[in-house]
Amino acid sequence: MSLSNTKMLKMNELDTFVENHLNLQVKISYREHHDFLLRHGLNECSHVLDIGCGNGTFVARLAQDYSEIQFVGIDKRKQCVESCQKLVSENFQAQQVDMFSRDSQFDFSQFDGFLMRYFLLHVDNSQKILEHLKNKLKRPSRFWIIDLDWSQFKCEPPHPTFDLLTKLVKDFCSKISVHSMGGQNVLPLLQKLGYQNIVVEHIPFSTQTIARDELTLYLKQEVICYSYMSGKSENDSETAEIIRFIDEDVRSGKFQVSYGMVLLFAELS
Ligand SMILES: C[S@@+](CC[C@H](N)C(=O)[O-])C[C@H]1O[C@@H](n2cnc3c(N)ncnc32)[C@H](O)[C@@H]1O
Repeated sequence: MSLSNTKMLKMNELDTFVENHLNLQVKISYREHHDFLLRHGLNECSHVLDIGCGNGTFVARLAQDYSEIQFVGIDKRKQCVESCQKLVSENFQAQQVDMFSRDSQFDFSQFDGFLMRYFLLHVDNSQKILEHLKNKLKRPSRFWIIDLDWSQFKCEPPHPTFDLLTKLVKDFCSKISVHSMGGQNVLPLLQKLGYQNIVVEHIPFSTQTIARDELTLYLKQEVICYSYMSGKSENDSETAEIIRFIDEDVRSGKFQVSYGMVLLFAELS
């Protein structure tokens, strides 16, 4: 799909669009996210569960790199699990599981590593998930939580159109009942629930660290997703202006834009 204009997505295009977006995230971030996992015990695990695995691109790539570890991806959406099925291998399987389903028979205790990448801040009750895992899991277990940290969302020099982008993200979060500053809330939540050995790292996800063409494409795709999912019309003038700003002003280097990212590690022993 062309992103050179602000054409909104038709329903049947959404899955392909989201899939391409998740793939771009993996392309941009695999190395750093993989390094984080490796520095925090991935090699000590034998069975790793990716919760909210999406189309499975990230976890399937991990499975390729670590043939001695068994990986399972779970997601509540049938379409995601179908995409994962194209990537299954000897050490990667996928299953449709909703973390909030009361009748799920899924056995979490078979795993000793849990990845939640762009997941925990996309659900409206992250505490419930962390509590559930704490009660069900064998010890020791390791957790890697990777997500966007919108509190680090910045533009230099400031520009009113960037403020519109921030507002679009906040409005979307409030529509799906997610706290837009959720990245900051995970640490106190893990502490409150008794998770141990917590490590927090912040990495810039910005025009200074990522190729400008890739970051601007990523930002435009984010804007299109948020605008579409917030129910804005195809001709929404604010969305058009944000996309113009990214495409012209950010891409040309006039503005440095940063989308923060937070990486957390924790253990239960
Ligand atoms: C932003 S995507 C992240 C995909 C993937 N982890 C990645 O890094 O590319 C969030 C995923 O969480 C899934 N999800 C949301 N709520 C869920 C739930 N209650 N149980 C299982 N999966 C859920 C969504 O279907 C979606 O695929």
